[in-house]
Amino acid sequence: GKVRAPTHIISTISDDRGEEPCYAGVPMSSIVEQGYGVGDICIMLCADHGPCVSGAHNTIVTARAGKDLVSSLVSGLLTIGPRFGGAIDDAARYFKDAYDKNLTPYEFVESMKKKGIRVPGIGHRIKRGDNRDKRVELLQLFARTNFPSVKYMEYAVQVETYTLSKANNLVLNVDGAIGSLFLDLLAGSGMFTKQEIDEIVEIGYLNGLFVLARSIGLIGHTFDQKRLKQPLYRHPWEDVLYTK
Ligand code: ACO
Ligand code: LMR
Repeated sequence: GKVRAPTHIISTISDDRGEEPCYAGVPMSSIVEQGYGVGDICIMLCADHGPCVSGAHNTIVTARAGKDLVSSLVSGLLTIGPRFGGAIDDAARYFKDAYDKNLTPYEFVESMKKKGIRVPGIGHRIKRGDNRDKRVELLQLFARTNFPSVKYMEYAVQVETYTLSKANNLVLNVDGAIGSLFLDLLAGSGMFTKQEIDEIVEIGYLNGLFVLARSIGLIGHTFDQKRLKQPLYRHPWEDVLYTK
């Protein structure tokens, strides 16, 4: 029989060997014809959030230091993590675990506090109970209109109701909204077994969505600084507390 030489790489992502490239086995022409997208609403809503957030700030400083596009972009991307934009997968993990264990929002939040872990997907530097995040509202409206079930999202909203009773800054943020909605998407699609869903959540794909989206804004900030011919950035002394 045939002897297959062992390969060094296995890949299910794309294949460029045929007449036309395929993404996950689907030919590019079908993707264009069928109008398939990639998490469009999340990409649009997370593309940028102004020049003051961690990522954009890094990118702006780097661009003003005369660095190239890729350096300025990655400098901003490197800030994405558990506090900024990269809390989506953990939000999905913790909300799922708490909901599946039938924990009340009180039990969930207080158990996290005991463990000394901030609830991923909750809290924001500028958004407040009386100044909600429009992006979260738009995502929730989209899900309520299009998803067969929004049980995880409703759970996240109940958690927010409880955290807001503790402090006005503890809103459900955009990371938490995407994380909980992704759980509803997985559970409502009927395409996955319970075990497969656990595996998907465990691996975690969603921070990638924020990275992808925010790259758009960071690229914009890089070119903006160059177009505006901004000089080398130096932080003002007055804004530093020099202390011993
Ligand atoms: N869970 C529990 N308590 C919290 C949380 C949370 N998620 N967030 C803030 N707090 C509490 C803090 O313990 C702190 O109280 P303390 O001083 O008594 O310890 C107080 O609220 C601090 O409030 P702020 O100063 O407004 O919060 P801070 O600016 O330090 O943090 C942050 C903002 C990083 C977003 C925070 O809320 C957090 O870590 N959230 C979880 C991670 C997360 O979801 N990040 C994504 C944000 S959205 C985005 O980046 C696109
Ligand atoms: C963002 O999308 O960058 C934000 O929610 C973070 C921030 O500080 O506004």
